Amino acid sequence: MAKIIDGKAVAAQIKEELKERTAQLKEKGIEITLAVIQVGKDAASGVYVGNKKKACAYIGIRSLAYELEEGTTQEELLALIDELNGRKDVNGILVQLPLPAHIEEDKVISAICPEKDVDGFHPQSVGALCIGQAGFVSCTPAGIIQLLKRSGIEIAGKECVVIGRSNIVGKPMSLLMLRENATVTIAHSRTENLKEVAKRADILIVAIGRPKMITREYIKEGAVVIDVGIHRKEDHRLCGDVDYDDVMPVCGAITPVPGGVGPMTIAMLMNNCVESIRLQS
Ligand code: GUN
Repeated sequence: MAKIIDGKAVAAQIKEELKERTAQLKEKGIEITLAVIQVGKDAASGVYVGNKKKACAYIGIRSLAYELEEGTTQEELLALIDELNGRKDVNGILVQLPLPAHIEEDKVISAICPEKDVDGFHPQSVGALCIGQAGFVSCTPAGIIQLLKRSGIEIAGKECVVIGRSNIVGKPMSLLMLRENATVTIAHSRTENLKEVAKRADILIVAIGRPKMITREYIKEGAVVIDVGIHRKEDHRLCGDVDYDDVMPVCGAITPVPGGVGPMTIAMLMNNCVESIRLQS
């Protein structure tokens, strides 16, 4: 039977560690502040932002919430970011995505000062990751590395296939696995013979955004399967990009949905907020 990789438990462990570090910083008179900006009323974004604020409260990070109207102009948003960039009492700035269509995401991401870019989306953060310099790393891929390491899964020398090439997950994930000395293949929706490519993987990381697409035909016996997808089915239950029940009997370890990668993303955001103190000092 495959091992179930418990993201909820690992995330809880990380949050406890961060809570302690935050308390130690407070004793030295250092308080961490995260500014969270949401534009408009997207329902899913509302839930994510709420969870981020809750995590901050739990760990002892001060959160400043900016809930801007859907009609906020790009200039107004950029002016707010500029103000927050200049504030000494703000350590991290997060603009929840997606933004309304009239606002250019790239411009907004690039406007956040890299020292406060706790999402790790700024081109400078991505470039630093690429060439092995210090900087913030996108939270979901960083969380997956922690999940693998803390579950005792060896990465160095292993064949890793990442399915998906998004800026937020697939690309940084591939770079992080490379940094951990895996042999990395990036596959995507246009990859030919995807099943054969995926079947090479000792560690298969799936972030393709299609419910239950990955069945056992994509899996090498004993492989570690990491499922980044999250979808709500018609019966309102959640599922991932991997067909969990089908893959379970052939893989060696697997992340469930929910309770796998999801909780790690917020834990790593909190980690980036705490780390911001080091980058800014
Ligand atoms: N929207 C969905 N995921 C994320 C995330 O990790 N960060 C931000 N800022 N927006 C998101």
